[in-house]
Amino acid sequence: MDENFSWKVRGDFPMLAEKMHEKPLIYLDSAATMLKPKQVIDTTVEYYTHSYGTVHRAVYALAATATARYDQVRESIRSFIGAEHVDEILFTKGTTEGINLVAATFGDALLCEGDEILLAETEHHSNIVPWQLLCKRKKAVIKVIPVNDRGEILLEELDKLLSSKTKIVGLAHVANVTGTVHPIEEVIKKAHACGAYVLVDGAQSIAHMPVDVKELDVDFYVFSGHKAFGPTGVGVLYGKRDLLEKMPPYQGGGDMIEKVSFAETTFQKAPLRFEAGTPMIAEVLGLGSAIDYINSLGRENILHWEKKLLSYATAKLLSLPQVKIIGTALHKASIISFSCKGIHPLDIGTLLDTKGIAVRTGHLCSQPTMQRFGVSSLTRVSFGVYNTFEEIDLFIEALQKILLRVSP
Ligand SMILES: Cc1ncc(COP(=O)(O)O)c(C=O)c1O
Repeated sequence: MDENFSWKVRGDFPMLAEKMHEKPLIYLDSAATMLKPKQVIDTTVEYYTHSYGTVHRAVYALAATATARYDQVRESIRSFIGAEHVDEILFTKGTTEGINLVAATFGDALLCEGDEILLAETEHHSNIVPWQLLCKRKKAVIKVIPVNDRGEILLEELDKLLSSKTKIVGLAHVANVTGTVHPIEEVIKKAHACGAYVLVDGAQSIAHMPVDVKELDVDFYVFSGHKAFGPTGVGVLYGKRDLLEKMPPYQGGGDMIEKVSFAETTFQKAPLRFEAGTPMIAEVLGLGSAIDYINSLGRENILHWEKKLLSYATAKLLSLPQVKIIGTALHKASIISFSCKGIHPLDIGTLLDTKGIAVRTGHLCSQPTMQRFGVSSLTRVSFGVYNTFEEIDLFIEALQKILLRVSP
């Protein structure tokens, strides 16, 4: 790992040669969605151009090859996240669908009136609303695990909340506003000791740090392909085999059945039971290339580089007196959300855009986090392996100029 790490990988990302408002693109929104390396784009184009065929349905050569490649990606993901069995890997549309699937099947079968689901105060809406819909149906209750002013969950409060009524704990591995890396190992142990199951939302962690679901002993782990160099419209739900076996289907259709008659239908085992209809084949193959790409860089190297970017950008932002960072946990991923005195985040985002700098603004899909920190909106910068110190300097320079216009 050297100082030129990002310069070595930047050539892999065609988007970095693009301009925004005639300025070289400075992409600081990787937490929303990551840029794609050409390896991923090439795989998708090659499939549509030369190898197109359906999966799990036909015997001709193109279909057989597509099926073999598709199934191979499932195996790559198994190995990537340290799952024991390949049938524990389900393809979904993304993190959101993975959580909805678990809530609608596992949650629906498990929950009774008065049962409780615990969620951290800083969850993404995707890890709140599916549980709320479920609780409404089942007359169950959501309880909130509070965070401190740094954005770290309060484990002593979790201890107080956990009881025999707790059935599910849902927690982001990395919170998408504060960037906090939550102590999921500890949470999982505590939840299991109470007989509760744990779903970890890995949307912001999977491409940024090593993850081993077996070592974690997590029940469900979900993530999106597009936040891990892969295509949009594909994601992964890991579930422990014994739990998946007991779960009813999510959607009905082709591929998920064993036998169908008008009197009765029997279903495939996991994972196919949960993958109704023709799947997103090109997207899965693209995700396979994304996983290969991450493996070729090494997740430890990615983690190390992004930590450097995080500390560099944090120090630079803190040197601006108008800036207040929301999310100052000891363990953080490369996400910085902040407010600036005297100017609305939407104005900051719009002005940075004119300089070719892409940042996220708004409630960042976590209104409860906004409420916790007493704001309605924030600006967020988030980094990927392709970001450089030079880009951070240009962003800070641009932000400084904007702030000077507001309070000279
Ligand atoms: C922590 C977290 N969970 C869930 C999601 C939802 O991911 P997707 O929209 O890809 O389903 C996001 C996306 O920003 C996220 O950051």
